Amino acid sequence: MSSSTPELDKRDQERLARTSERRFEKVVGISFTLSLIATIGLGVVYWQGGQTQVEGALLFVTLGGLGFGIVAWGKYLVPQGPYVQDREELKSPASEREVLIESLERGSNLIVRRSFLAKLLGASVAAFGVITLFPFIRSLGPQPKKMLYVTNWKKGSALVRSDGTKVRASDLEIGGILTVFPEGHAGGAISQTVLVRPSFQDIVTKPGRESWGPQGYLAYSKVCTHAGCPVGLYQELTQQLLCPCHQSLFDVMTGANPVFGPAPRPLPQLPLEIDSQGYLRAQAGYDEPIGPGFWERA
Ligand code: FES
Repeated sequence: MSSSTPELDKRDQERLARTSERRFEKVVGISFTLSLIATIGLGVVYWQGGQTQVEGALLFVTLGGLGFGIVAWGKYLVPQGPYVQDREELKSPASEREVLIESLERGSNLIVRRSFLAKLLGASVAAFGVITLFPFIRSLGPQPKKMLYVTNWKKGSALVRSDGTKVRASDLEIGGILTVFPEGHAGGAISQTVLVRPSFQDIVTKPGRESWGPQGYLAYSKVCTHAGCPVGLYQELTQQLLCPCHQSLFDVMTGANPVFGPAPRPLPQLPLEIDSQGYLRAQAGYDEPIGPGFWERA
């Protein structure tokens, strides 16, 4: 009688410990699962346009589930120690060997369960990592594709104002400036072009551009070659276009060469012509990409 009582106590303690471990494993598993579900929900809500309150609640569950699960795992499922074991005689009694075998069997189940929890934790963290990339990916905006290489200007495009009315050769006096667009694309950011009239005579800005400036009209892309701001200020006295963002100055008489500021290259020039009815038109589209410098350019 006296020898069986402590053994029974030991077994009871083992059973109790096992039950309690399983309970905590369930709690940890539920925490990670909740975190994983909330992370996926967060991604879905964000992708569909977002809703701040819902996103906040889901983020709370995501991080809370992860944090709670990790803390509970560390506190209740990892042996705490330190352990001290009395030295006993080497040969164990049969009952102790039974307990040991049970314990080893339980251990193999334990390894399976713990590796499942580890996978669940890994999935939650990985999902959260992917979801946090969403804002970065979306903030990059749409791909520019070919839109910086090709504008809406083409041969014969009439020059129109932002309200769509066509521009006549008689519309601007010397020193006049106007923002123009290709007909059918009034207001387009990529095709916006600045039209200036420094003279009443034809102007040649560069060799090969003898016919591009009829009756003193010159047209240049309005998108700054530095960082893409609209170049909208014209200083008649110096015949320079000014970009207000970083004060780049472009000389309109020499093909909008940059003469001051950080712009690395001239504004592309649009070749103009005047049709039989006196309207200004493009001889062709721009012959080079507009906007900020590209790395492949010389
Ligand atoms: S964007 Fe024009 S000078 Fe910087």
